[in-house]
Amino acid sequence: MTGRKVLMDFEVTPTSHTLEAYLARGGYQALAKALRGMKPGEVTQEIVDSGLQGRGGAAFPAGRKWQVIDPHDGQPHYLVANADEGEPGTFKDRWVLEHSPHTLLESMLIASYALGVRHSFIYIRGEFDLPWRRVSAAIEEAYAAGYFGENILGTGFSCDIFVFRGAGAYVCGEASSLLASIEGSRGYPRNRPPRLTVKGLFQRPTVVNNVETLSNLAWIIGHGAAAFRQIGTPKSPGTRLISVSGHIARPGVYEVELGYSWAKFLHDECGGVSCDRELKAVIPGGISSQVLTGRDAKVLTPHDVETMILDHDALWQAGSSLGSGGMIVIAEGTCMVSLLRVMLRFYHHESCGQCTPCREGMGWLHRIVDRILAGKGRPEDIDLMYRISKANDGTTICGLGDAAGYATVAMLDRFRDEFDWCVEHKRSKYDGNLECRPST
Ligand SMILES: Cc1cc2nc3c(=O)[nH]c(=O)nc-3n(C[C@H](O)[C@H](O)[C@H](O)COP(=O)(O)O)c2cc1C
Repeated sequence: MTGRKVLMDFEVTPTSHTLEAYLARGGYQALAKALRGMKPGEVTQEIVDSGLQGRGGAAFPAGRKWQVIDPHDGQPHYLVANADEGEPGTFKDRWVLEHSPHTLLESMLIASYALGVRHSFIYIRGEFDLPWRRVSAAIEEAYAAGYFGENILGTGFSCDIFVFRGAGAYVCGEASSLLASIEGSRGYPRNRPPRLTVKGLFQRPTVVNNVETLSNLAWIIGHGAAAFRQIGTPKSPGTRLISVSGHIARPGVYEVELGYSWAKFLHDECGGVSCDRELKAVIPGGISSQVLTGRDAKVLTPHDVETMILDHDALWQAGSSLGSGGMIVIAEGTCMVSLLRVMLRFYHHESCGQCTPCREGMGWLHRIVDRILAGKGRPEDIDLMYRISKANDGTTICGLGDAAGYATVAMLDRFRDEFDWCVEHKRSKYDGNLECRPST
């Protein structure tokens, strides 16, 4: 057990995603409670009091985002669930979409009521087939049962929902490009201000929240903010869905109470490293979060993962973040230069090209790592990579360039010896290995 549960508190069966099963475990009662007994502002205040932080990457307080919107200002407002889930290593929203779609729908109805939203959207990753089918079927069930449409539960509240399928661009997970994509434009991020809560979809106030963030709402309204605060740590209440992949014995999606011991999670729950190797490193929150070191690392950070707890503060102090909850476990014997090449190939391919430091920088970094691995690296290449990475800091419209820069710098800082070795010996110290191989 990884602590208390909010989202995974039921047994997954072939029918547990259906409306019938959801109602049997108390589903849609929180919606009734909100619609019948609370004013929209009271719902928002409950979310503020719960301390719920965004689960999409930046951990921004959900309630604070909502407070910008006045539900009674007479103009249309929109709510969008970000189900793009494009961050490499991240597959936890998929679990909600496949196994508990009604939790998301009920939570979105509660949010729509609080925010004065008549039309809400789910922007779902184009490659997600089963999640899309499950969500679409759940929406049909919810309409048939009177949870969407006009005069929901006889309370006078009306709300419709639309599912929009993405076309496979990572950058369309970024909130402003996601909205551009729904509007039918090219998925380019745009500068703020104005914030999306002021001018978002169709130039109207819009809240974009991650699937997991939203899915907590039904529980919070059902049990109350104070009960939610009993779970997790004072600064990071609640739980996180963590998708674990890489060199790990039991990969998968886990719900972990914030504040849980990382060593216990990795070794007891996930079964430890999947070959008889030491833990070399962990990328904790999708490849855009900074790599942390494990037991084998030559350059230990003060917060080696074995001694840390899983919460937002602890990870920020260690120079990383829980990000999107996509945890990639890396065994000793893995070539970090090759791993960085894989990451940079992705960023190079996915940079939308609007901002020069990102468009040029990602390709440039990718080519340099390629040349280092091909035995043609120059001693000055490492410093050049630092300079290119740092040139993205704060100079791009969206976070893709910044995050890619920070992730690159962390790899260089924490595994510098391997990059230097590769340049000096004109080959990878670990033969470019990315697999988990038993030590010989
Ligand atoms: C390049 C890029 C890709 C992103 N992809 C996602 C994504 O797939 N899912 C997501 O929820 N947030 C993603 N985000 C973050 C969103 O812009 C936004 O902050 C988030 O959806 C807000 O939800 P939250 O406050 O509930 O975390 C991405 C950001 C960037 C810069």
